[in-house]
Amino acid sequence: MKKFVIGGNWKLQLLTVKENIAVATEIRDAIEELSLENVEVFIAPSFHALYSVGQILKGSKLKLAGQNMYFRDKGAFTGEISVDSLLDVGCEYVLLGHSERRRIFDETSPVINQKVKKALEKGLKPVLCNGETAKERAEGNFKQVNQTQLEESLADITAEEVAQIVIAYEPVWAIINKFLNPDTEITTATPEQATEAHDFIRGWLITTYGKEIGGQVPIQYGGSMKEANCEGLLNIPNINGGLIGGASLSAAKFKPIIEMAIKFANQP
Ligand code: PGA
Repeated sequence: MKKFVIGGNWKLQLLTVKENIAVATEIRDAIEELSLENVEVFIAPSFHALYSVGQILKGSKLKLAGQNMYFRDKGAFTGEISVDSLLDVGCEYVLLGHSERRRIFDETSPVINQKVKKALEKGLKPVLCNGETAKERAEGNFKQVNQTQLEESLADITAEEVAQIVIAYEPVWAIINKFLNPDTEITTATPEQATEAHDFIRGWLITTYGKEIGGQVPIQYGGSMKEANCEGLLNIPNINGGLIGGASLSAAKFKPIIEMAIKFANQP
């Protein structure tokens, strides 16, 4: 049976606690009647709303994620949030190395590596994002870019630890982000492009961590996934879910993607 992880990345889109609670409640209630065997669903709200959203998700099927974290436990680090704080409000996942962190906030893979290690040490599941820009793809470098990001972000991490991680392949050119993609048209990866990239990442995981573990690590696809294209993407053998931005901001848009994952998770 194929397993799926579907994540909603709310970025800096919902600005008030009230809005975060409203959308979280809507999604929580929409998925309550669904059978989520082999499908995990999380949302990553704004930091300031995590506590309130965590309260309303208690005992529900919807899990909570942080959008980022610092790799030090505590101290004089203005503007940062620690893994213990994310755990305290009920987070089970944390997004690390999202392309907006890498490309807008200059986060490097060695820094992300420290974050992955800290999250693993404390039992928070990292969702490690990687992906190439349009330019890197046009230059024919996309495999090397992804491999380097993976090698550096997962440096010194054992196979047993990697078994706790979710990978998200997010080609930067496919993410609905006018800031990162000012001059290029934002298009979802075609099934052929997604297949090639996910097969490559799966191959790297198997070569590095062995078939048993490398073959099982979920690899999400991210970048303009929505109801209209999720069937073609989630049906691809090495795609085990989606990291979804824009289409996770309402139950009406998010639920059909979750239902598609359930359909494929129940196929023999
Ligand atoms: P998008 O964002 O679905 O809005 O393209 C995906 C992501 O950045 O995680």
